[in-house]
Amino acid sequence: MVLYGLLWLVNSYLQAQTPLPDPLLMNNGQRVKTLEQWHTQRRKELLELFANEMYGHSPKRPAEMRFEVFEEDKKALNGKATRRQVAVYINGKSDGPRMDLLIYIPNHVKGRVPAILGLNFWGNHAVHPDPNIRITQSWMESGKGNPYANHSCVVNHQATEACRGTNANQWPIDSILDRGYALVTAYREDIASDDAKTGLQKGVHTLYPELQNKGDNFGTIAAWAWALSRAMDYLETDKAIDAEKVAVFGWSRLGKGALWAGATDERFAMVISNESGAGGAKLFHRGVGENIRRLCTVFPHWYAANFKKYMDKDTLLPFDQHEVIALVAPRPVYIASAVDDKGADPEGEFAGAKAAEVVYRFLGKEGLPTEKIPILNTSVQGQIGYHIRSGGHDVTLFDWQQYLNFADKHFK
Ligand code: GCU
Repeated sequence: MVLYGLLWLVNSYLQAQTPLPDPLLMNNGQRVKTLEQWHTQRRKELLELFANEMYGHSPKRPAEMRFEVFEEDKKALNGKATRRQVAVYINGKSDGPRMDLLIYIPNHVKGRVPAILGLNFWGNHAVHPDPNIRITQSWMESGKGNPYANHSCVVNHQATEACRGTNANQWPIDSILDRGYALVTAYREDIASDDAKTGLQKGVHTLYPELQNKGDNFGTIAAWAWALSRAMDYLETDKAIDAEKVAVFGWSRLGKGALWAGATDERFAMVISNESGAGGAKLFHRGVGENIRRLCTVFPHWYAANFKKYMDKDTLLPFDQHEVIALVAPRPVYIASAVDDKGADPEGEFAGAKAAEVVYRFLGKEGLPTEKIPILNTSVQGQIGYHIRSGGHDVTLFDWQQYLNFADKHFK
């Protein structure tokens, strides 16, 4: 009886591990055979599948959107950089949702410069102690919810002068500039609330009520990705930036957003997703690390309501995150893990990158040139890049050095 029970358990476990969906298999059951089929048919099918079932549908570029360069200094950071701060008025109105772009452009580079664009967790003023960065007026987490910054500087959910530079350890701006890249960043809360209680009631969500209260509602990960595209709209107008060489970067939840931004917007020439974990680069089919139930209950605003259907069905999912990575193909993508970041399932992030390779190969690119997860602190770089470093959930100088090498390899 015990043996029978055990066999039943093993059997049901095995049955739950369905094979990974094949990104090159079209909805009609046929395999993608031509490049054109991939670009015009299969890509669209996948984008629609993920928009319907997971991220939700995003609005188009708002016609009324307006940019205002509200501050500029050609001799910022002791003359090293030009700093520009740009208000993006999403619906054109000064009292509507406003996203501030903080831009540093290296002065030593001639001509248009490649750029790295990424959202930040704790406000633009936190990425560098530069006293001229506008302190965000947007809501800010404090106390326990803010473990990576000096949260005592946040008073009544508003950042203060004491918050300047508190997150600079994750943004080595001087090194990025020295390597010849511009850095462009914006604060996540300028775009949408990241609080489960007010999740879909603030920021850009207020502009699109028709995209809420439905299964494929515009979620917050999608809103961050969409805002990265709006930042790209601005960068296309900035004569200092080479808009054909913009890498979109994000860490953790913002790495989930960066990946969806790269999947949906082909203007991004590169995607860098640092420890994006569940709902980012890791495969749900492994059933390891943070699961769909946790994502949908702790962060109910992140994904569309339809995604809740898949709670407790991680290993049975009819799609998985390698297909989101594959949507970036043939453009270069870098996935990175940290060995102690268990919730993000580092092996699952590697497996996600590796499983996207079939599309890169199909499109004539190299993929990720290693069969096994690389040894610690070693970067492997083909058209897909990957490393796993020692330590925990963070963005370190080591991570940035690999991203800048990857950008040099593909952009220079
Ligand atoms: C939580 C969440 C993760 C997320 C992380 C972060 O840990 O469970 O999915 O990546 O926050 O954004 O830092």
